[in-house]
Amino acid sequence: MQLPPAPQSSFASDNVAGAHPLVIEAITQANRGHFPAYGADPITVRTQRAFRELFDHDVTTHFVYGGTGANVFALATMLQPAEAIVCAAQSHINVDETGSPERILGAKLIDIPTVDAKLRPSDLEFVRSMIGNQHGVQPAVVAITQVTELGTVYSVEEIRQLSDAAHALGMYMYLDGARIANATASLGGTRDALRSFTRDAGIDVMTFGCTKAGGVFGEAVVFFNPEFARRSLFIRKLVTQLHSKMRFISAQYEAMLTDDLFITLGGQANSAAQKLFDKTRSISSLQLHTPPQANSMFPIIGVENRSVLQQWAHFYDWDVAQDQVRWMTAWDVTDEAIDQFVAGVEAVLADGRSA
Ligand SMILES: Cc1ncc(COP(=O)(O)O)c(C=O)c1O
Repeated sequence: MQLPPAPQSSFASDNVAGAHPLVIEAITQANRGHFPAYGADPITVRTQRAFRELFDHDVTTHFVYGGTGANVFALATMLQPAEAIVCAAQSHINVDETGSPERILGAKLIDIPTVDAKLRPSDLEFVRSMIGNQHGVQPAVVAITQVTELGTVYSVEEIRQLSDAAHALGMYMYLDGARIANATASLGGTRDALRSFTRDAGIDVMTFGCTKAGGVFGEAVVFFNPEFARRSLFIRKLVTQLHSKMRFISAQYEAMLTDDLFITLGGQANSAAQKLFDKTRSISSLQLHTPPQANSMFPIIGVENRSVLQQWAHFYDWDVAQDQVRWMTAWDVTDEAIDQFVAGVEAVLADGRSA
């Protein structure tokens, strides 16, 4: 079969893209001169202030190397011995972190099966019976991901209701915000939108992703709850997440927060996914029934077609048993790349093979 030229962008992940030029420029600027290490430099101090302005709240912000480390660090500040985390079965901490939360935190993950990777207040009902039982772990944290691993986005109300239920049980709310830029763009694209589903919805601690949005590396952990912020400085080092040349992480965040670049880039990735959806939704075998809420979609493609397409322009399998794959867009995916990708998909699926 004759396939068109492979697209210039990958649809495998938002991690495959390079960094935005303004981020690179910020790193270059940060490269001038000698500054105190471990976060005492002026860029880090300025960027921590920028986070307080972003949330219009006296948050504590710490920068770390990456997303898995950010999750482990944040959760380490929230947990005591014998305490457990309630999370969706599909959550990154449960299936994509090589067991590091269990091993490093020494905490049980109570993973709840869900259809859309979202937890709901009713999922916490069973936790009630565990509280106070000396033979069982004590559920202490509800961990959610926004955007979820299945590309769904919690509404403000959904997070608020879950937080209310968690707090009523004496538990705390943690949000993995590896794709916070996409979520913010999806829920209105403003600072107020971001505040509404985090600060105002009862989140105690969250990560604020940068890498997938167009950074090079590094993540931020934001503490709304001062109780967890109190020992965070020491726990970051304890879990090996303290970077000596901190200014190179914070400079990226300074660029991302300036003129809300992170929201612009999250929006670009989301609209690329929307365009890809619009151009493929009519291919019925893909079973793309609902538009993407952020920057990913999960079509169905039979094994034979899948392997032809993946060799041509790689993307990941998602649920092999269901023939489900993942297409994900990054901040710099062009219309031309979308057209090239769609042309290849159409060529393979129209080739007469079963889907
Ligand atoms: C939901 C979620 N959380 C966290 C991460 C961070 O992972 P990493 O350690 O690769 O930066 C990812 C990366 O894919 C993710 O999808």
